[in-house]
Formats: sequence, C-alpha cells, structure tokens
Amino acid sequence: MKLLVTGGAGFIGSSVVRLAIEQGHSVVNLDVLTYAACLENVASVADSPLYAFVQTDICDREALDKIFEAHKPDAVMHLAAESHVDRSIDGPGAFIQTNVTGTYTLLEAARAYWQEAGKPDVFRFHHISTDEVYGSLGPTGQFTEDTPYDPRSPYSASKAASDHLVRAWGETYGLPIVLTNCSNNYGPYHFPEKLVPVVILKALAGEPIPVYGDGANVRDWLFVEDHADALLTVLTKGTLGRSYNIGGENEVSNLELVKMICALLDDCHPEGAPHADLITFVADRPGHDQRYAIDPTRIRTELGWRPSVTVEEGLARTVDWYLENKDWWRALQNRKGVGERLGKA
Ligand SMILES: NC(=O)c1ccc[n+]([C@@H]2O[C@H](COP(=O)([O-])OP(=O)(O)OC[C@H]3O[C@@H](n4cnc5c(N)ncnc54)[C@H](O)[C@@H]3O)[C@@H](O)[C@H]2O)c1
Repeated sequence: MKLLVTGGAGFIGSSVVRLAIEQGHSVVNLDVLTYAACLENVASVADSPLYAFVQTDICDREALDKIFEAHKPDAVMHLAAESHVDRSIDGPGAFIQTNVTGTYTLLEAARAYWQEAGKPDVFRFHHISTDEVYGSLGPTGQFTEDTPYDPRSPYSASKAASDHLVRAWGETYGLPIVLTNCSNNYGPYHFPEKLVPVVILKALAGEPIPVYGDGANVRDWLFVEDHADALLTVLTKGTLGRSYNIGGENEVSNLELVKMICALLDDCHPEGAPHADLITFVADRPGHDQRYAIDPTRIRTELGWRPSVTVEEGLARTVDWYLENKDWWRALQNRKGVGERLGKA
C-alpha cells in the first residue's frame, strides 16, 4: 500500500514509518517539523526508494491537495498532533489549531481526493487517538470503545474533538474511516519532555527526578513498536467505521514505573546508584487524571492482536537505547521548554 503518514517525524509516527517500510509499504511522511519532531527518527529509512518526506502543515489545504494529487495514497494514517498535556495547559491554542482545525483540513482534503477518485471502498482514513478522551477512572474498571467521552485537559479535549470530526466524516460523507485510541506509549525516540525519558535523563544527570503529586496515577504502558504494529494491523484488517482501543496490558502507577527505571539504571549505570534516592515529589498537574486502563477485548478477539512486550522488557530496551543514543537526546535538550516544569496553570 502507499501510505500518507502525518506526524511521521514524531515519536509514534516515526515508529510507524520504519515498520511500514520494513513491511514493504510505500510511505509519504508529511510533517511540519514542530519542536517535537526529529528527522533523525527516520534516518534508517530515509534513503529507501519506498520513502518520501514532505514538510507541510496539516492546516494548509492547498498544500495538502497537491500532496494527495502527486502521491495518490491508498490510505492516510493521521498521527500529526500537538501531544504534550503540560504544554496544552500553558498554551491550548496550538492544540486547537493542529488537532482540531488541522484534522478538519486533512479530512476535507482526503474527502476531495477520495471523491475525485470515485469513492474507492479500499481507501482508509485512519485516525490515531488516545485513551485520554475517555477521562479518568477510579480504582476499578476499564475503557471500552463504548465508554462515553469525558476529556479533562485541553490536549484530550482537542483529541476528542478530532475523533468526533472523523466519525462525522464517516457517517455524513461515507469517508472510509477507522479510529484507534491508545494508552501511554514509551520506547526509543521518545521526546525528552515525556515521563519515561525525563526519568532516565534526570537520573543519568544525578538531578532530582520529578514525580507529580504522590505518583499514584496509573497508566497502561505500551511499547511504541507494539503500537506501530497494532496500527498497521487495524489499518489493514480493521472493520470500516470501527474504533479499536489499544493497550499494553501493563497497568503501573507512575511511582512504580519510576522505581523500575531507577532499578534498571542501578544495574547498567551503577554510577549514582541508588537512583531512586533522586525521586522528588512535586506539585501535581492541574486536572491530573487518576487512572487509565484499556479493555483490549475488541482488538484481541476481532483482529487477534496482543502486545508482545512486557513493561519490564520494554523499559529495559528503552533504558539501553537512551544509554546508547546520547547524541540523539542531547541534541534535543536545548529545544524550548525541554527540562522545564510546564503546565502548572
Ligand atoms: N505518546 C503517546 O503516549 C500517545 C498515546 C496515544 C495516542 N497518541 C497520539 O499519537 C499521535 C502521535 O503522538 P506522538 O507522541 O508521536 O507525538 P509527537 O509530539 O512525538 O509527534 C507529533 C508529530 O506531529 C507533527 N506535527 C505537529 N503539528 C503538525 C502540523 N500542524 N502539521 C504537520 N505535522 C505536525 C510534529 O512535527 C511531530 O513530528 C498523536 O496524535 C497523539 O495524540 C500518543
């Protein structure tokens, strides 16, 4: 297939690009290259005849029309977004612009292209979203695809809005859509402002490791390469018009996660051990959701997909990757806001 992947220079998008090319798909990577992007993430496939890159904003309709016309994709995998909750608290405007207006603009460009092509059934618009649209759980229960939306941060509200737009374009115009809502990802190439790399890099620097609130917030952690695999499975095998929740089957509190990373570093980077001594509790994020948990029944029973990596194994691979790729993260550490406490409101 020829895939138009938006946000392919970001964390998850680049994993999708690398895997899609490995599987023999052609990829057009469409990315405007915000602060969160890094073309180094796709360097391993950049010379492949199956790969092309276009630097474009998903809000630019004219440019999108030209890209659809020039590349004639069989499917769109839409990952481009503003993705950091803390930044959404400080500056929600960029989230509304890219996640809502950008998704609308991309939907309209895709619809025009699909209609012009005679509305082929095989075309897919795959919207990649988050479990954060469902809101916050108490100590029990899991999100299913039927859980009512209840977003609580500017980020999750903007993603919820984009999900609604995609469903509406499916219902109203018949655009062949699929959606996925995924739990927290981690793994190689994770931008150094997100929890897992923050912990690794603070520990390596011997600096306080910030844990929001009491660290009791629970997330279902998914290794990014498993997510990319799930996305390509849903794209190629998922039922038209359907949404699929994707989880890691690895529910862990933030504090447990931080302690697991510290223990891994104690083994492979004993200098500064025990790293857990650096854990420092800081003021909580406003509106911090208490718990997310995914019920993976649909993707497991309908598509036979399950994650292949446990959180123990995935974290070990991630810690090793950060130790072996210092040039990658050092180059990103001076980008605006990285290393600062954001989103205190
Ligand atoms: N990270 C997670 O844990 C997680 C979990 C579930 C879902 N998601 C969703 O997956 C997608 C990718 O997340 P990520 O963590 O890789 O994000 P990221 O911030 O690492 O990457 C986003 C990419 O989108 C690009 N982009 C931003 N605005 C753009 C615009 N206007 N036009 C074109 N490109 C633009 C950026 O340059 C960047 O390369 C997002 O839609 C996010 O909501 C993320």
